[in-house]
Amino acid sequence: MPNPLSSLTISRPDDWHLHLRDGEAMQSVIGHSARQFGRAIVMPNLKPPVTTTDMALQYRDRVYQAMRAAGVEGGSFEPLMTLYLTDNTTGEEIRKAKESGAVYAVKLYPAGATTNSDAGVTDLLGRCGPALEAMQQHNLPLLVHGEVTDPEVDLFDREAVFIDRVLIPLRERYPELRVVLEHVTTKDGVDYVMQAEGHIGATITAHHLLYNRNALFLGGIRPHWYCLPVLKRETHRQALVEAATSGHSRFFLGTDSAPHPRGLKEHACGCAGAYTAFHAMELYATAFDAVGRLDNLEAFASRNGPAFYGLPVNEGVLTLERTDLQIPDELPLGRTTVVPLASGETLQWKVQ
Ligand code: DOR
Ligand code: ZN
Repeated sequence: MPNPLSSLTISRPDDWHLHLRDGEAMQSVIGHSARQFGRAIVMPNLKPPVTTTDMALQYRDRVYQAMRAAGVEGGSFEPLMTLYLTDNTTGEEIRKAKESGAVYAVKLYPAGATTNSDAGVTDLLGRCGPALEAMQQHNLPLLVHGEVTDPEVDLFDREAVFIDRVLIPLRERYPELRVVLEHVTTKDGVDYVMQAEGHIGATITAHHLLYNRNALFLGGIRPHWYCLPVLKRETHRQALVEAATSGHSRFFLGTDSAPHPRGLKEHACGCAGAYTAFHAMELYATAFDAVGRLDNLEAFASRNGPAFYGLPVNEGVLTLERTDLQIPDELPLGRTTVVPLASGETLQWKVQ
């Protein structure tokens, strides 16, 4: 057997799906993302949601403020803002978003699908025609949380049903629209993205690459493994690993790192979201290493995303070393704490 790699240097990666939150919480977490990533697509599901360009620009100012307060070196990290699509988003608002140069995409949350999605879309094709038309025209991608909210549909089938009921009809009606199936979690999703015509991509989280749904119940109910879309069975995890590690240009890194205060996760009705920004690249390296595909980590983490968004690859580099990283039990989150995914465990990779 050849000696395993002892370190790996890749172009500085980006996170194409990140929850930074706001206020004190953002100040606590932003340094973790900025240490590893050059840019991040910043999710708009705040309270209230970021539904207009003006709100996105104000939010971006607060991101920069938080970076300064957290001591992030100027120019080292760029937040790419998004708008939260509603039933009432106008074509004019989309044009304004594109012209701002600060908004890189629009996020679809089906109403009720996940954290802070109450203001989301109730009927995409019925209600959002003008916005979708404008996005297609101005080349502003639609990022989809790909789950139906129909209570009749089993929780584990919501992504597959979304593809049939919403994604396929959407892309037939707007064939030039650029679409990202965010945090794809199933073989159905992977197969669709691989074979579909036109402009489509998908982000994949580290937690969906590393864990199947057994992780939710290992030795008892484990709320820190609960996220949406929920972890799926092993066959789906294997399909995700194959897609991510193949180097296929349609798949790229999106952590979906989503910090919640410890007390709201360890709760009778715990919030959905895994906090992975602290150790994101270490988690991804672990997943790629497990199948002997570290050679394709750079394509997935640093090249495929910029190619989809029409942006240059970052100039700097990131080096990972094969050495132990102990994941802390908890980390500060404003005045509370957040438990990082797999807290207390040890990874074999560490960002230099
Ligand atoms: O697990 C999740 N957490 N999934 C989402 O879609 C939203 C996120 C959050 O904002 O907490
Ligand atoms: Zn998310």
